Amino acid sequence: MRIVKLLLAMALAVSAGSVFAQTVKIGFITSYSGLNGNLGPYMERAVRLYLKLHEKELGGVKVELITRDDTGPNPDKAKQLAQELVVRDKVNLLAGVIFTPNAMAIAPIATEAKVPFVIMNAGTAVITTRSPYMVRTSFTLWQSSYPLGQWAAKKYKTAYSLVSDFGPGHDCEEAFSKGFEEGGGKIVGKVRVPLQNPDWAAYMQRVKDAKPDVLNVFIPAGKTATAVMKNFSDLGLDKAGIKLIGPGDITTDEELPNMGDVALGVLTVHHYSAGATRPANKAFVAAWKKEYGQNETPNFVAVGAWDGAALIVDAIKALKGNMDPDKTMEFFKHWKSANSPRGPISIDPETRDIIQPEYLREVKRVGGQLVNVELETLGAAVKDPWKEFQKKK
Ligand code: PHB
Repeated sequence: MRIVKLLLAMALAVSAGSVFAQTVKIGFITSYSGLNGNLGPYMERAVRLYLKLHEKELGGVKVELITRDDTGPNPDKAKQLAQELVVRDKVNLLAGVIFTPNAMAIAPIATEAKVPFVIMNAGTAVITTRSPYMVRTSFTLWQSSYPLGQWAAKKYKTAYSLVSDFGPGHDCEEAFSKGFEEGGGKIVGKVRVPLQNPDWAAYMQRVKDAKPDVLNVFIPAGKTATAVMKNFSDLGLDKAGIKLIGPGDITTDEELPNMGDVALGVLTVHHYSAGATRPANKAFVAAWKKEYGQNETPNFVAVGAWDGAALIVDAIKALKGNMDPDKTMEFFKHWKSANSPRGPISIDPETRDIIQPEYLREVKRVGGQLVNVELETLGAAVKDPWKEFQKKK
């Protein structure tokens, strides 16, 4: 009888997650190679650093990060990796993903397998509508580009839009144009350029010939941003008096040193700058440099992953390591943080997208370094505008 009681007590304790240390497995898919393959390591480093600094809070629950390279915008590869992680590795959660097409390809797997998927970058608005098991801790292009269009209309009369021809580029074009035109501005030209190796010189010449007041650009951050800067300057658009603006992807923090002075004065709207002086950001940047070296700088990809890791750690604590998918999603939907490096953030329970501040920034030289200096807060708690407009339809 005593043995039966003991076994029963043990079984109950195990199901409550309080006796044996458990392991929460995260299938982490990002880009370590291919287009802008330098971005994946920012995501992984952020997650690893957050876990290292907070593992003591987990009450003995271990977190195992199983990393996979999707090789850039490659939905078939991303889907195959997600399938393997779910079926073979039996992960409790999926996380990561720089590129929109990859996030879209993983959506049905998250739904079918009921595996919560924390999107740490991919920013096309529609993504999170594709599975109830998705939550996003990064951004949408609408969050930056709609307020950018509204702001630009107050200063400029004409604009040209140049975007990469895939989901986030289309969103940037649509959101910027809507904000700009509602404010009385005129779009004098739009072009969608191939995602891989566009003929930058030819496109920049077209823009120069159209003589807009401003050129709004979206390209995926990373090395592509530096190619845009170089061609903008080489073709003399700056000297022709055209102002370069865009979402923060075009002045991504880690590339500023490679861009040089051509980036000076570029105005962007975004949720994160490594140069922000908020105490939470200073602490984050200091922790990053301490771990990875004084010359290393985090970027917005790192912040999406840092806050994604915070969301996961908080869920593990709340659920004591028992990651029932529906309970996990319920927790995610009501998560908030006052301590994000970008300012106060929360998850919108209706859309599972992040609500966050958006800042107008200008690239300036501060202490010898190029920095995205935050000039103004355009919105303190911006919801994805695309979903807000959809509701009204
Ligand atoms: C995306 O594919 O959603 C994406 C990629 C790079 C960015 C932003 C969005 O800088």
